[in-house]
Amino acid sequence: MPWWRSRWLIVLLLVVTVSVVALVRTADAREARNALMRADPEAILATPSLAHTALALGRDGFVRHCASCHGTGGPDQARGVPDLTDGDYLYGTGQVAEIEQIVLHGIRSGDPRGWQLAAMPAYARPKPYAAEPIPPMTPTQIRDVIQFLRFKHGTATDQAAAARGGKLYAGSGGCYDCHGNDAGGDEAVGAPNLLDDVWLYGNTPATLERTIREGRAGISPAFATTLSPVEARAIAVYVAALPRHQQDQR
Ligand code: HEC
Ligand code: HEC
Repeated sequence: MPWWRSRWLIVLLLVVTVSVVALVRTADAREARNALMRADPEAILATPSLAHTALALGRDGFVRHCASCHGTGGPDQARGVPDLTDGDYLYGTGQVAEIEQIVLHGIRSGDPRGWQLAAMPAYARPKPYAAEPIPPMTPTQIRDVIQFLRFKHGTATDQAAAARGGKLYAGSGGCYDCHGNDAGGDEAVGAPNLLDDVWLYGNTPATLERTIREGRAGISPAFATTLSPVEARAIAVYVAALPRHQQDQR
């Protein structure tokens, strides 16, 4: 009887073939993931084979770990969640390595390696800020500072108040120290630009008043103990690609 007539041999051959294919595919997937960790993070998106693996893995991880707060990447001012699709960053400039750092160690997450250089002081409290001796402001002073911010946007309704607010901004209020002399923000401490139209919490007079009275300290959790290094990197690549993706669609 010729060998191909033997049913057992054919079954055996099939099993061996399927196992070899599976092994090769697992090895390929592992190799693709290793390649992501070896690569220069900023070069991944420009390398099609790496980008393909990272974006697929990253999208999956984003949906599972980030979407509960970040949705599909857009802003949520009620919760102080920044827009990840607009190319405007509170921290850094949108490099993959910077985002990876946020994914792993978070912002005000309690992880000592996360971002926590500054928070928005609560000016209605007797002691507005734990880290520095910043004096509190009266409700009138807070309204003056808001007029100053509105003046910067061309919407002030009380010029005299705006002028007083400008003095507070650059003086005892200490705003300049974190948001910059020009109010353009400081990416190194996550102090938002107050001149542009990108608002983390919003710019209605009521929201501005609440921000300045009560302070703000948004939290993005640390995932260093939840995610594998390659998952964290893939998610960072996916997030870094969000603004570029938006631009492509425009
Ligand atoms: C519990 C809600 C929550 C979860 C979950 C969360 N984030 Fe955040 N994330 C925030 C908030 C709130 C901020 C704004 C922090 C601040 O005010 O500085 C933020 C900020 C960020 C920033 C900084 C954006 C900028 O403009 O600089 C990045 C990047 C980011 N998150 C990525 C992620 C990724 C990726 C995940 C998933 C691995 C994630 N976050 C999970 C709430 C969350
Ligand atoms: C110690 C540093 C520090 C000082 C001083 C400070 N801020 Fe802030 N401010 C921040 C940080 C950090 C944030 C972002 C908070 C967050 O991410 O949750 C912020 C947020 C804000 C926001 C919210 C912006 C948005 O996009 O929604 C406004 C408005 C603001 N600050 C105005 C002021 C004004 C006016 C003063 C002075 C009276 C001031 N800040 C003083 C650090 C500071």
